[in-house]
Amino acid sequence: MSYLLLYSSHDGQTKKIVTQIALHLRKAGMQCDVRSLQEGHALNLAPYEKILVGASIRYGHFNRALNRFANLHAAQMNQMKTAFFGVNLTARKPEKRTPQTNLYVRKFLEATPWKPTVSAVFAGALLYPRYRWLDRVMIRLIMKMTKGETDTTKEIEYTDWEQVEAFATEFAHI
Ligand SMILES: Cc1cc2nc3c(=O)[nH]c(=O)nc-3n(C[C@H](O)[C@H](O)[C@H](O)COP(=O)(O)O)c2cc1C
Repeated sequence: MSYLLLYSSHDGQTKKIVTQIALHLRKAGMQCDVRSLQEGHALNLAPYEKILVGASIRYGHFNRALNRFANLHAAQMNQMKTAFFGVNLTARKPEKRTPQTNLYVRKFLEATPWKPTVSAVFAGALLYPRYRWLDRVMIRLIMKMTKGETDTTKEIEYTDWEQVEAFATEFAHI
């Protein structure tokens, strides 16, 4: 039996987190398949013992592939051990880093027919130099309004890797 780990990632941070979780699980002897959520509709979940899904926020929304996947597979996934985590910059503030206190994750969990066994929220990365001009301007505006970093020469990773390790361990034990 093996685990299926899925990600939806625009700039690579959610993929990096899922890759780290896979590394942790493989070290503990588990077999893991890592795939993009974009291929979610074509995946057969039956061979897997557990499923983990991670997705990031852009302009207030998860990628629509997340809802597509969750709606399509909810009945099957609700019979399995599953995990969900969301990634965003609001979660750089520790008090916004739980499924109850992070609005994006709370709203997703309230609305989706999928009921993950465990959920988490991780802070993402702020990568100003890599963004297109308009995205850089918009993100800087949001950061200014929320008292965050506004120096557009900076790349900052807010992800708490110990929190990621702890979630990987929790997933292994559900
Ligand atoms: C164009 C853009 C829009 C974003 N919108 C939001 C947002 O509305 N709320 C938020 O908390 N974070 C927002 N973020 C932050 C991302 O969620 C964060 O950078 C995350 O690490 C992205 O993960 P990914 O690289 O896996 O896509 C945005 C980032 C970008 C580049």
